[in-house]
Parts: sequence; structure tokens; C-alpha cells
Amino acid sequence: MKLFSEEVVGQLNGKAADLAHRIKNKEAIIGVVGLGYVGMPIALEYCKKGYSCIGVDVVEEKVNSLNNGINFIEDLKDEEVAQAVSDGLLKASTDYQALTEADIIFIAVPTPFNANKDPDISYIINAGERISEFLSPGQLIILKSTTFPGTTESYLIPVLEKSGLRTGEDYYIAFSPERVDPGNKVFHTGNTPIVAGGINETSTILASYANNQIIEKVYMVSNPKIAELEKLLENIFRSVNIALVNELAILCERMGGINVWEVVEAASTKPFGFMKFTPGPGVGGHCIPIDPYYLSWLAREYDFETKFITLAANVNESMPYHVVNHVIREVAKQPVALRDARILIMGVSFKKNVRDLRHSPAEAIMLRLFEEGIENVDYSDPWAPEYQAVNRTFYSVDLNEEKLASYNCVILVTDHDDFDLDFIVKHSAHIVDTRNMTKEISHGREKITLLGYTEPKTKYVMEH
Ligand SMILES: NC(=O)c1ccc[n+]([C@@H]2O[C@H](COP(=O)([O-])OP(=O)(O)OC[C@H]3O[C@@H](n4cnc5c(N)ncnc54)[C@H](O)[C@@H]3O)[C@@H](O)[C@H]2O)c1
Repeated sequence: MKLFSEEVVGQLNGKAADLAHRIKNKEAIIGVVGLGYVGMPIALEYCKKGYSCIGVDVVEEKVNSLNNGINFIEDLKDEEVAQAVSDGLLKASTDYQALTEADIIFIAVPTPFNANKDPDISYIINAGERISEFLSPGQLIILKSTTFPGTTESYLIPVLEKSGLRTGEDYYIAFSPERVDPGNKVFHTGNTPIVAGGINETSTILASYANNQIIEKVYMVSNPKIAELEKLLENIFRSVNIALVNELAILCERMGGINVWEVVEAASTKPFGFMKFTPGPGVGGHCIPIDPYYLSWLAREYDFETKFITLAANVNESMPYHVVNHVIREVAKQPVALRDARILIMGVSFKKNVRDLRHSPAEAIMLRLFEEGIENVDYSDPWAPEYQAVNRTFYSVDLNEEKLASYNCVILVTDHDDFDLDFIVKHSAHIVDTRNMTKEISHGREKITLLGYTEPKTKYVMEH
């Protein structure tokens, strides 16, 4: 692995050197397939540097909205999107033919899993097939979608070669995974280093050079598989460490008298060799609940079971069940039948201060509540006025004293900064706090069940 520096561009020749020249002079036209959380920031960053961008998406409303200068990604500034469109730098289309003009094409389409949690790379294949119809000599393709090692070489390239062009010679291709962290106020596209692994050295250099126009540091790796697997490692690392503290949280509850949150805080004072992860109601978003399965699926092909990955996923997926057990236990102490209990979920975004609802633990909690026969479930979330979950449409409820008091249990699921916790604790009958959001609240502690903590208890020993 090597940090990219512009000197290596000098070793390019022919069509590759022409492309490098166009990149340098900002004449290269950038194509982005998939205008979502990943694709849109890429397009906008290039526009801000003076490049022209063409975005392609299958959703017509997104394309129309963008062409009217209307932003739909919360981390992007509305005025910057509007400016890029009015300057004529940013255009969108549902027609792949628009990409014939592009010199560089980023692919940022979804990579979900199916009902059996096997990878679904059909969006990548579909995008590849459409691109291959218009692929022209000298173009550079950069796959951004998170996927298993071998996708670029064994799945995307064969589809692109239907164009008749020779990979690495007529056109260039690399895998360069995305690290955008929506809602992160410190790290954004520009200051988050990334890696790029091309099918050959020319592809790696070109992809790194292209990325380097909008990203300060780009690390060149030997091939696309390294880049594909390192991305999975990043997310598996998170999944495993979250599972570890989740397991510890459950153990602390079992033992009584030890607050897991304070344990984690204490461990975090070590300035080396420890990285802070906190327990919670489960994992969410388009990455952590899905990506680990991409690798365990591939490993099976090699008669290999990825034990850490599976165990971590099991622990994290058990957390919504664990949270619902707390709710049931608390409702049982009240003079209400379970089926009549009224439950409020606070926060349905998968993480704080974002609108992204994908794979939110809130949905898993709702599902478990329904399975237990508790159907009077509402939610409140200033970031999500409407929520489609469990085959229903829910609408965020506005909170007042009376409304809060009408619920038998309030579950704090997402730690949005704008929740008024003092007010919530004051007016709720009972609270299950899955994120230690109430740590600063000293009143009403007797009404709060904190994930990862129970009062000290007497230890009974079995004699026989
Ligand atoms: N969201 C993140 O924070 C994040 C971070 C790192 C990596 N990723 C990865 O990036 C990829 C994209 O994720 P995202 O969050 O941007 O998804 P997204 O759903 O926000 O955006 C994907 C876009 O692709 C469009 N699309 C689907 N099929 C298409 C096709 N055939 N042609 C053109 N457009 C098509 C969709 O309409 C959508 O607008 C995934 O592989 C994801 O795992 C996401």
C-alpha cells in the first residue's frame, strides 16, 4: 500500500495520460450512478471543485428534484446543490446514455441482502449492464458500493466487457470503497482518507488521481479485492465491538450493581489499545447489519465459517428482543393487560441526528412488540414525520404532558440531540433507556430501566 502522490501520474501514457490531463485541467466530466447518500456527496464535491457532473438514477423524482436544484440529502447544503445546478455543473438523468459524455463513472448503487441474508449485487450488475451499452475507450469506472471480494473482477468486469472493450487497456476500472459517515460533523468526504485498488497499475493511479481531486489522502492498494475486503473489515470491526459491549451490558444486568456505561467510560481513559464502543438497542443503517453477511456468505464457498462475524450478528440482532423483554417486565408491574399496553418509541432513525431510517432497531423493536401482542405502538421523532415499518405507515406524534403520560412505557431508541429528556422523564410512567440518554437526569430514576444496569442484588447459590 502506498499513499498516492501526483508524481506517479507521470508514468501514464496514451489514453490514460490523456485522461489524467483532463482530470488535472478539470475538463474531465464526472458521472455518478446512484444519487443517494454516497453518490450525491461525490457529485457535489466535484462540482465544488469546478468539474461538470452527470448523475444517473432510476428514481425519476430524484432526478427531477435535482435538476430543479432541490437537495434531498440532509448532509449536503441546499444552497450548494442549487448553486451547482444553476451554474450548469450538475445535471441528472434517468437515461444511462447521458454517461457517454463522462470520463469517469462512479457506481454507488445499493448492495442489500435478500430474505436469507445472502448478498444481492443485482443493482451493481444492472448498473454495469447499462453502462456497458455506452462504455467508450478511455473511460474510468470506479465502483463505490460495499461488496464482497471478487465482485469487481468476477461480476462487474465480465458485464462491462460485453461492450467489446479490453479491461485495463481500453477502459480502466478500480474499486474504491466509500467511508462517508452521515451526520459526522468532523469527518466529511474531503478529510476522510480512502483507498483505491485498480485492476492494473494504470487503473489504480487514475482512480487515485480522480479521488484525490476531492479527497486529501488516497491510499493505493494492490488490487480491487484488497479494497473490497478492507471495507468489509471496517464494518465487521464495528459489528464485533458493538456486540462485545452489548454482551457486557447483558452480563452487567445479570450481575447487578455494575453500570456498563461507567465501565466503558472508565476503559476509554486508556489512551492506547482501546477504542470506545457503546451498547444499544441493536445495529442499523445500510452498512453494519448487512455488510458482515457479505463476507460470511463468501466464506461458505470456501468451507469456512466466519465465527466472530456470525456471533457478533447474533448478539446484535438479539438486542431488540432484549429491549422488548424489559418493556414487558415493566408493563407487567402496571394494572394493564399486555395487549392493551400503550408504548411509545422515541427515535426511529438508525442513528442520532439523521433522517436515515434504513434497518433501524426501532423497526425490529416494533416487530417484537407486535409479536408479543402489543399493538398500541406509537413513535415520536422530529427527524422522521412518517415511518413505514412492519407493513404499516406510522406518523410521529407530538409530545405534550398528557400524551406522554398516556403511555405505559417509553423506549428511548435513538439518541437525537433535540429530545427534551428532562420533560420526557418528568411525564412518562416508565422509560426503557437503551442508550444511557438519561444519564444527566437525576429525578425520576426509579422510573428508568437502563440497558446495561440493574440494582445490586442478592446472589443465591444452588446447593445441589
Ligand atoms: N450510506 C452510507 O453511509 C454508506 C457508507 C459507505 C458505503 N455505503 C455503500 O454505498 C452504496 C450505496 O449506498 P447509499 O447509502 O448511497 O444508498 P442509497 O439508497 O442512498 O442510494 C442508492 C441510489 O442508487 C439508485 N439506484 C438503484 N439502482 C440503480 C441503478 N440500476 N441505476 C442507477 N441508480 C440506481 C437508488 O435509486 C438510490 O438513489 C451501498 O453499497 C452502501 O453499502 C453507504
